[in-house]
Amino acid sequence: MHLTQGSCVLQEVVIYIPRTGANKNSGYSRETQTSIRAIMALSGDIILETHGLTKEFKGFVAVKNVNIQVKRGTIHAIIGPNGAGKTTCFNLLTKFLQPTSGTITYKGRDITSYAAADVARLGLVRSFQISAVFPHFTALENVRVALQRQRGGSFDFWRSEKLLKDYDEKARELLNDVGLLAFENVPAVELAYGRKRALEIATTLALDPEMILLDEPTAGMGHEDVERIAALVKRVAHNKTVLMVEHNLSVVSGLSDQITVLARGEVLAEGDYQTVSSDPRVVEAYLGTAHA
Ligand SMILES: Nc1ncnc2c1ncn2[C@@H]1O[C@H](COP(=O)(O)OP(=O)(O)O)[C@@H](O)[C@H]1O
Ligand SMILES: [Mg+2]
Repeated sequence: MHLTQGSCVLQEVVIYIPRTGANKNSGYSRETQTSIRAIMALSGDIILETHGLTKEFKGFVAVKNVNIQVKRGTIHAIIGPNGAGKTTCFNLLTKFLQPTSGTITYKGRDITSYAAADVARLGLVRSFQISAVFPHFTALENVRVALQRQRGGSFDFWRSEKLLKDYDEKARELLNDVGLLAFENVPAVELAYGRKRALEIATTLALDPEMILLDEPTAGMGHEDVERIAALVKRVAHNKTVLMVEHNLSVVSGLSDQITVLARGEVLAEGDYQTVSSDPRVVEAYLGTAHA
């Protein structure tokens, strides 16, 4: 018997840290929470895992026997050339598609048969599609609606002025986090493309996810916006786990802790940017030609 890489997975880490009196109501302090996440990441705690994930479309296998392990607190990218199965994989992970076979485990729980809304409730949130941002609401209103939805108050029109002010305050914090504070009163429809995606990320963060799934966050963007969104993903990821699907290898270079390369539905290579970008099979898959 031999041990293969990743065969020993620490499923659960129990750390007892007493809560201090000052934080009795809010739980652990932000610093303590960040430290716990750092320990989790270092200890190899896996937050999301797939085993033999497979999706067939009428006999065509778009995703084949894919095993992915995402460590808590990391930015993990799934990359690959067009047709590699990235979007299909993403839709399987976010439960928009049901796999033909294989399993998906989130925080030790088998979520393979869960509905999309149920995984969102567990803290695994897919970034909204642009169309889900209300075009004629301002940036601030869009984030506020997301906050109200998160707190179960979306229809509480009778709620107090004070509560609305609280929502606005939190919404401004989130807009500030994504660099949109100066645009709070601009209707979403009037925002430039890159800023719309930033707003989309702010509305996703409003749901306070533990893990965020992003589908090609920089797709269709010019160079300047690509860098801005990459920096934004890095900034918002400081206390979350991020899994992103991305076509462009260079976008993930300074961003990802771990990269899984898909080609023709299968895992072709895994590792950090250095490892996968120098793998001749990856170069070949991207160029579509053999390299000596
Ligand atoms: N609903 C579908 N029905 C049939 N084939 C599909 C469907 N969705 C994707 N495919 C096929 O699966 C393969 C992978 O597609 P996709 O996951 O979109 O790749 P990527 O996002 O990496 O470009 C492609 O060959 C595509 O044509
Ligand atoms: Mg795609």
